[in-house]
Amino acid sequence: MATTIGTEAVLEALRRVEAPGVTAAANDVVGLGYVKDLAVGPEGASLRLEYPAPLTPARRASAAQAREAVRALVGPDAKVDVALEGRIPTGFVPTAEAMGPRPQEPLAPGVKNFIAVGSGKGGVGKSTIAVNLALGLARAGARVGILDADIFGPSVPLLLGVTRQAYMEDMALRHQAGEGMGPDGQPRLLPYRTHGLLVMSLGFVVEPDKAAIFRGPRVHHALVQLLGDVEWGELDYLVFDLPPGTGDIHLSLAQLVPIAGAVVVCTPQPLALADAIKAIDLFRATKTEVLGLVENMSGHTCSQCGHHEDVFGTGGVRDAAFEWKMPFLGAVPLDARVRRSGDRGRPVLAGPADAEPAPDGAALPVGEADARADAREQALADALWGIVDRVTAVLAEKVRARPRSLPIRRT
Ligand SMILES: Nc1ncnc2c1ncn2[C@@H]1O[C@H](COP(=O)(O)OP(=O)(O)O)[C@@H](O)[C@H]1O
Ligand SMILES: [Mg+2]
Repeated sequence: MATTIGTEAVLEALRRVEAPGVTAAANDVVGLGYVKDLAVGPEGASLRLEYPAPLTPARRASAAQAREAVRALVGPDAKVDVALEGRIPTGFVPTAEAMGPRPQEPLAPGVKNFIAVGSGKGGVGKSTIAVNLALGLARAGARVGILDADIFGPSVPLLLGVTRQAYMEDMALRHQAGEGMGPDGQPRLLPYRTHGLLVMSLGFVVEPDKAAIFRGPRVHHALVQLLGDVEWGELDYLVFDLPPGTGDIHLSLAQLVPIAGAVVVCTPQPLALADAIKAIDLFRATKTEVLGLVENMSGHTCSQCGHHEDVFGTGGVRDAAFEWKMPFLGAVPLDARVRRSGDRGRPVLAGPADAEPAPDGAALPVGEADARADAREQALADALWGIVDRVTAVLAEKVRARPRSLPIRRT
């Protein structure tokens, strides 16, 4: 059956499809310019939905919505072809003035976006958020690395279940196999590969008790090595898990590479907010764009009954973000499963490919209690996916709105 629908009508229908992670009033895929190559003819309609971000579950779902919206318009017999694409842009390139002094040779030149995850104080879940963000980005199809820049208290290896010994053995084997040889024939440091991520930590190459002597210039030098001597290759994102506080490491990183943006993690107590302000001030002082705030340990969800209770309060970070005119990137409840999954080296957003196989390969029976637990697990994963959506959408928006500036040549 031939359709007589016009392009305008299809665009009108697509205006009801929202782009995940975009909270601006105009957040539909048409208004944002994500609809490409729209063709409407007697046969039906075809288009491409192109996100400037990786394809998270929500973005995939929006393509299905778009398909349905067009289908409802053209009727059941017409052809509907909606292709989905995630094209990750290179992050915000600061002006030459903002860049300040930089080393001659760019460090990790194959990285499109450096994202820093920081907070004013320790124990707020910075590493947890950084690791889950990296995992989410990777599962959404991006090429992702994570660099544990908390050189005094590296926790990324722990959260991803990698020991120093496993790292050393793996690298020795890969070097033996001829991998990671530099142009000078010398072996380069290789990042560990796990959960679909490239992972590097000073904790892999320095014995734990030696890290304490790292100070000032040595810290800077260690970061230069972790960025420059490591075979990072081509990456869409390299996530930095920063140490707590506002110290040398932030300053060094901001001098060494053009950070596309920083995610500030905070708990809802007023005291924690005061620390977050310090972290934000530091990022601003180093001309690092703050992408927004995450509220972690936002209320408590009981892992037994699912009851949600305010421990540190909820919403304080959201209100602060509003007051400080900054994007709010999402909230994660205080939930024992977050800690347990981290302790087991399998964070919440670790993919099913890494899941332990069920006994005999059979699916475990899902009882009523399990189903409830599954729903809560899903809610937790959704909260973290929401942060992945927001971070990538805000970053894309910054890139789109970036002022015309003297771009720094990065080859
Ligand atoms: N939302 C959460 N619910 C429960 N435990 C959490 C949550 N976020 C982090 N944790 C736990 O709190 C501790 C500190 O988290 P971590 O990510 O190491 O913080 P930071 O990097 O800011 O020091 C860890 O044991 C971690 O598993
Ligand atoms: Mg940490």
